[in-house]
Amino acid sequence: MSDLLKVENLSVRFEVKRGGGWNKKCYLYAVDDVSFTVKKGETLAIVGESGSGKTTAALAVARLVKAHSGTVALAGENILQKEAEDLRQTRQKVQFIFQDPYSSLNPRKRAEAIVREPLDSLSQKTEVEKAKIVDELFEAVGLRPEQQRLFPHQFSGGQRQRIGIARALATQPELIICDEPVSALDVAVQAQILNLLRKLQKNFGLTYLFISHDLGVVQHMSDSIAVMYMGRVVEHADRLSLFQTPRHPYTQALLSAVPTVDRAKRAQQKRILIPGDPPDPVNLPLGCRFANRCPVAEAICQTVEPELKSDANGHRTACHLV
Ligand SMILES: Nc1ncnc2c1ncn2[C@@H]1O[C@H](COP(=O)(O)OP(=O)(O)OP(=O)(O)O)[C@@H](O)[C@H]1O
Ligand code: SF4
Ligand SMILES: [Mg+2]
Repeated sequence: MSDLLKVENLSVRFEVKRGGGWNKKCYLYAVDDVSFTVKKGETLAIVGESGSGKTTAALAVARLVKAHSGTVALAGENILQKEAEDLRQTRQKVQFIFQDPYSSLNPRKRAEAIVREPLDSLSQKTEVEKAKIVDELFEAVGLRPEQQRLFPHQFSGGQRQRIGIARALATQPELIICDEPVSALDVAVQAQILNLLRKLQKNFGLTYLFISHDLGVVQHMSDSIAVMYMGRVVEHADRLSLFQTPRHPYTQALLSAVPTVDRAKRAQQKRILIPGDPPDPVNLPLGCRFANRCPVAEAICQTVEPELKSDANGHRTACHLV
């Protein structure tokens, strides 16, 4: 499969105010020199704790936040250089599914109008054609035709997320960014929505960038996984390599918290707790950003930042001990 999305050396920074002198300009690098690719029809999961830069990276890919440097190529075209009409068209090729479907759905619009909205900006479609597409989308996400007349508050959380998914699919986007799409849902409903996303991917050949703080959620949902910590990718591998041979101490700790169904494995599994807090993102340490919390840190980790290096199979890790 060819690469649909290729992100290279992407950085996004925010100007923040800090004490210490008049108008002292400080920058927070929410995303710092991040590279990854997503193949057409596959899912790349981005995993990491709160504040690691997952959403900011995704927003930069969709041009909803300005990148400071780097390139984002969608189907071979650098979308960071696009302007005006070109940019509008590119934006339609990338759609978002958000964590909280309730706050992202207009409470005063009926479900049918919410799902149709992205189609309204495509002027070449007639009303009859749009209604037919909406019918098909409702069916594809498992909602009944008569539910088109209802308002968002008349749906359950899981059903609302189905509306959000139908809306994201309306313009037949090339890339769908799912930002914590099941975090707000009950476990049983989570499984239904994840199954639906997988089924839609299979039926329509969709490509997902799937963001989650939980490796457990992405274990059945991803072809490859990038683990982010403090704006950086610290490990990136295909799903099997990452789950079977996690190499970065941070990934190992995240994985130790994932419940396993395998009884023998569960007996051996020891939870690795990550002590302390992440460093101040505006005053990052000189060496490894994980050093103050890493159970196996050595002297070099305090002074030299580890590079993200790949092995022969493309499993990339940023750690001096690997
Ligand atoms: N508009 C902004 N202005 C200043 N700082 C920001 C802005 N947006 C995000 N940040 C900072 O950038 C860093 C990354 O935030 P981001 O929302 O991308 O993290 P995340 O991994 O998506 O976290 P979460 O799991 O909580 O959603 C954080 O330190 C955050 O405070
Ligand atoms: S480079 Fe050092 S501090 Fe960083 S993860 Fe590896 S061992 Fe831990
Ligand atoms: Mg986020």
